[in-house]
Amino acid sequence: MHSGDKPIALITGATSGIGAAFARRLASAGCSLILTGRREEKLRSSTSELRAGGASQIDVLIGDLADEAHRSAIAKKIPTLPRLDFLVNNAGFNIHANVEEADPQQLRSIIDVHCTATVELTHAALGVMKRNGRGAIVNVSSLASFTPGSGSATYCATKAFVTTFTEALYLELSDSGIRVQALCPGWVRSDFHTRRGIMLSNMPAFLWMEADYVVNESLHALERKKILCIPKFRFKLIAFLCRHLPRVVYFSLMPTFRRLRQGWKK
Ligand SMILES: NC(=O)c1ccc[n+]([C@@H]2O[C@H](COP(=O)([O-])OP(=O)(O)OC[C@H]3O[C@@H](n4cnc5c(N)ncnc54)[C@H](OP(=O)(O)O)[C@@H]3O)[C@@H](O)[C@H]2O)c1
Repeated sequence: MHSGDKPIALITGATSGIGAAFARRLASAGCSLILTGRREEKLRSSTSELRAGGASQIDVLIGDLADEAHRSAIAKKIPTLPRLDFLVNNAGFNIHANVEEADPQQLRSIIDVHCTATVELTHAALGVMKRNGRGAIVNVSSLASFTPGSGSATYCATKAFVTTFTEALYLELSDSGIRVQALCPGWVRSDFHTRRGIMLSNMPAFLWMEADYVVNESLHALERKKILCIPKFRFKLIAFLCRHLPRVVYFSLMPTFRRLRQGWKK
């Protein structure tokens, strides 16, 4: 049972990568944690380190966010909390396939995990945050929300949804005391690429970021009430160019980038 005297953070996809880094960072700030994911053993085994790192109380909610019943069970937990200081909608995945080759069920899962879960958990969180007059919501989007590319159409489109949803939410929540952020990282070392069998082993090392770095940047940007967080100047520049280049130029450059990316794969 979470008491109301410590900040409470709910992080989806806390099993690995960026979500696990948020959990470590918010534990060190003394938060009580509610962690979600599907890999139960891995998630539960992280709790002793998080307790030692400062988390006062940890709840683990196992569930697939592509499954309506699991999503709703997690969302129903939120109004029962005495407070909610952080919601990090982080869970996400991609498959690498053109739309016609992909399993439609997997495409639907990407939409449900990125869009439906983010909207439903945000809706539930706002009730508690408004009651307490404060809170922060970080929606983990991606640089891909600005860079539509072949082989990732559903991924890019759902991340664009997350970014736009967050920007609109920011307008709805002005003067509410609730901060929102769309976190749009470029390449981050995590299970994200390896679990879909993509080894970008030949990708230049300087292009990678560590999850802990991304989380620090996100929390720093949140303090400064920045709505969009794109860690590292080079990725800010890419996002800027992709948003402002004439579409005809953008589309003519993408096949070159795709060939470059093929060369990074082992
Ligand atoms: N890595 C990158 O280069 C990169 C770049 C930009 C944005 N992002 C975004 O960052 C977020 C975190 O990714 P990551 O890089 O940290 O990858 P990761 O290590 O693979 O972590 C993804 C997390 O999402 C959870 N998850 C995935 N599908 C789920 C489902 N159906 N139901 C419930 N939980 C699910 C996973 O937990 P379980 O497996 O235990 O379910 C895991 O904890 C994602 O939204 C991703 O799109 C990543």
